[in-house]
Amino acid sequence: MKKQLLALVATLVVSTSALAADEIKLIVDTAKPGPVIHRNIYGQFAEHLGTGIYEGMWVGPESKIPNVRGWRKDVVAALKDLKVPLVRWPGGCFADEYHWRDGIGPRNKRPVKINTHWGGVPENNAVGTHEFFDLVEQLGAEAYVNANVGTGTPQEAAEWLEYMTGEGNATIVEQRRKNGRDKPFRVHYYALGNETWGCGGNMRPEYYADLYRHWATFLKTPAHNRPQFIASGGNDLDTTWTEVLSKNVRHNFDGIAHHAYTFPSGKWEGKGAAAGFPEAEWVSMLAQVGKIDQVLVKSKVILDKNDPKKKLAIYFDEWGSWYDPEPGSNPGFLVQRNTLRDALLAALHFNVFHDHADRVKMSNIAQMVNVLQAMILTSKDKLVLTPTYHAFALYTPFQDATSLPFKIENNPVYKVDKFEMPTLSATAAQGKDGKLYIGLVNANATQATELTLLLGSEAPKSVKGKLLTAGAMDAQNELGKPAQVLPQAFEAQATNGKLTIKLPAKSILVLAAER
Ligand code: AHR
Repeated sequence: MKKQLLALVATLVVSTSALAADEIKLIVDTAKPGPVIHRNIYGQFAEHLGTGIYEGMWVGPESKIPNVRGWRKDVVAALKDLKVPLVRWPGGCFADEYHWRDGIGPRNKRPVKINTHWGGVPENNAVGTHEFFDLVEQLGAEAYVNANVGTGTPQEAAEWLEYMTGEGNATIVEQRRKNGRDKPFRVHYYALGNETWGCGGNMRPEYYADLYRHWATFLKTPAHNRPQFIASGGNDLDTTWTEVLSKNVRHNFDGIAHHAYTFPSGKWEGKGAAAGFPEAEWVSMLAQVGKIDQVLVKSKVILDKNDPKKKLAIYFDEWGSWYDPEPGSNPGFLVQRNTLRDALLAALHFNVFHDHADRVKMSNIAQMVNVLQAMILTSKDKLVLTPTYHAFALYTPFQDATSLPFKIENNPVYKVDKFEMPTLSATAAQGKDGKLYIGLVNANATQATELTLLLGSEAPKSVKGKLLTAGAMDAQNELGKPAQVLPQAFEAQATNGKLTIKLPAKSILVLAAER
């Protein structure tokens, strides 16, 4: 009998400790603040592509749709609510066919060209330099201007910068004044070329590095209006460009632009559907965020070797989901649906960018309105806020917050068919308001996950925040229908010194913790 009792006690001890050992914990180290999460990690991209600018944002001053000097009031208001910190313009592939002089002066005298890259439609140049700066100034955002290397000249790139930032009485500056702008524009970032390995000129990294050295020599501005100068870098897992540029370029060089898109199939051809997909495609999409982490780890090793003083930043200036075009749409307009899966994809990117905040100082989701993984979809005078918009909205407290190290113990693997990834992804930071913020993603499409939250060795008293989830993996917000993906309030209290969070399946949660 005594033997049996002892065996029972032993079993109980083993199973209790096994339970405790399996407990999923998020432990945040509040004592060791890391780098600041640059607000421009939440940057946007607006290209002359489809209805991304024309119709989607720009309707012209004569439009019946309420606007301020041509920019839609409803769209600008929604983007301001999102605290958009920065907009990249005019492309993309379009940038390497864009000649800035086409977009200044009286609008009715501007030339009409064909947007050969995107849909072969007429481009009337109604939105040019002055209109773009009006938009960013209405938004209170910074400006990222991408110059044309593919079909431009070093003179054209240098003169555009002089036109925007010049102060004296040079004829080109007087021309800006004549066109209605006395005060120089504030250019925060200026890039030479885009995807120079592809649509920007099919170059080799060595050739482009030399070209960059040449062109950058002539980029001059008043010292107090000097932008960060950006070289066009690699794609996906390719870090050759990072290596060659960081080794060979010095002057007027502040960072390297990197691009990586996510397709359900992992391939350009037959990308996969935006909605109506099986669970395996949910995981195949979300698991690919692992490659963003991988390329950043690889890039940082290269930069730490070639730029040990950490002068160079990584600007991840195109990322996001890319699906087969919406049936019936112009394939050159890159119209796609936006679902709960896209919201989680965005939050997973944020968590990775925060992990690399020592080098990643800007990122730009592609794109802001009506194109690819957009924040806003419009139709005539109506608009709808996408699930991705709400993911960005949830994460606004992380803009300029100070990252905090953390670890997740016992993070389960989420696996469907051949695709797998960690179930939970997290981030932690001290916000500018002094509060402690936690961002969490439960990637599992079918199961809720419970975790214990610890700040150092202590549980917070309570947490409060916002949760984003929905019934279906491809839930979306459609015009004229009730929205399916909207943030909800979330709260949890500690009991007996322990705070447990139950994260619903397929959800994003951003919390402020009270100690
Ligand atoms: O965002 C759409 C396109 O994707 C951009 O124009 C180009 O840079 C990339 O290939």
